Amino acid sequence: MNVLIIGNGGREHALAWKLAQSPRVERVFVAPGNAGTAAEAENVDIGMEDFPRLVKFAKENRAALTVVGPEAPLCAGLADAFQAEGLRVFGPTRSAAQLEGSKVFCKNLLRNADVPTADYRVFRDAESADRYINDRYSLPDEDVPVVVKADGLAAGKGAIVCRRRKEALEAIDRIARQRAFGDAGNQLVIEERLDGHEASVLAITDGRTILTLSPAQDHKAAHDGDKGPNTGGMGAYSPTPLLDDAQIRWVEEHVLVPTVHAMKRARIPFRGVLYAGLMMTSQGLKVLEYNVRFGDPECQPILMRLKTDLADVLEATVDGRLDEIAALEWDPRPAVCVVMASEGYPGPYEKGKPIRGLDDAARLPDVKVFHAGTALSGGQAVTSGGRVLGVTALGNSIPAAKLQAYKAVKCIRWEGAWCRKDISDKALEYGRRA
Ligand code: AMP
Ligand code: GLY
Repeated sequence: MNVLIIGNGGREHALAWKLAQSPRVERVFVAPGNAGTAAEAENVDIGMEDFPRLVKFAKENRAALTVVGPEAPLCAGLADAFQAEGLRVFGPTRSAAQLEGSKVFCKNLLRNADVPTADYRVFRDAESADRYINDRYSLPDEDVPVVVKADGLAAGKGAIVCRRRKEALEAIDRIARQRAFGDAGNQLVIEERLDGHEASVLAITDGRTILTLSPAQDHKAAHDGDKGPNTGGMGAYSPTPLLDDAQIRWVEEHVLVPTVHAMKRARIPFRGVLYAGLMMTSQGLKVLEYNVRFGDPECQPILMRLKTDLADVLEATVDGRLDEIAALEWDPRPAVCVVMASEGYPGPYEKGKPIRGLDDAARLPDVKVFHAGTALSGGQAVTSGGRVLGVTALGNSIPAAKLQAYKAVKCIRWEGAWCRKDISDKALEYGRRA
């Protein structure tokens, strides 16, 4: 069968790479794709927001399965547009994607389903949110342990973690008065700040059966030691020792199953990837957020380890027969993915820098370089985004996988390239403390 993947990041390159390995898959198309997917699949020059042309392409090219990578097209109803034409699409409908697209929807659902999450309040205007903060925290230097969140999608920037009253009031002002995230700021969530380690548990579900993937840990801060501004993710590894098998079963029982059931009860069945962002607090695990698609970069190390044919799993999800899929098979070796970024990211950066050394990196054993923000310019791979590559490696241990990933990173260069040097070190730090 032919497969169409929507998106242009590292996650979509990993999906294209993995799906192309299926003996049942003939052609893999990626719209719009990047330089990495151009080499391994067929790029299609259609934007992610152009639903009519994507539908037309899928029909004309007999795409038996379309896989949607990012959240924005899902929240805008891409899956609905495909389903309306009788096309098979992996990813939740617009209503189900509200789990990520609306923090208010997500928090209310979690509360109703009794899933542990931070306490929260919803506000419709800046004045009532200000009043709430001022009434509760009146001392000038008091710790103000809150997180102020824009309700809607804000490219990962809509959650502002606060320590002081001034920060909380500024966050409210930015979201609700200055409208820094536009209509995403029509409502605000103010929630209790949680402290602890973060981990991601991703599961694939057809709305009834849940297949949990191996847990991963992202590195959201730009610089080593989790310093600096937040990014889309500077690296990830899987599995993470942060969650043992008993904790994963706990997450299934107390987080994933009640969420999937609550969606079904609300007549909004969820089909696709349910990604739970978790905080391990001293009071136990709590859900920080849901995403409704594979994490980027978590997808890269996870898929590098997956041995099961992904096409079978995604197709069974779309057809509502995930119960027929046997337990997933994994390479027992951990994988580490290091993101190489453009100078200036997550702020403004230049594009079009020629990338050298990709072939040398590719020759290293157990290494796969996934492209993210890259494009082809006269046959040469050049930078075209903030996160440029996800250099991923397997190893017999997390430190061995890390070593191999950084060995590959050393082969690759372009003007201004940088990366975090400590991806996966949190696993070791945690091991020491446990
Ligand atoms: P979100 O936009 O909800 O995905 O949150 C993005 C990031 O903000 C998370 O990965 C956490 O690092 C942080 N965050 C969100 N909610 C909380 C919270 N209640 N307490 C502490 N940190 C949080
Ligand atoms: N890596 C975080 C995310 O995909 O949202």
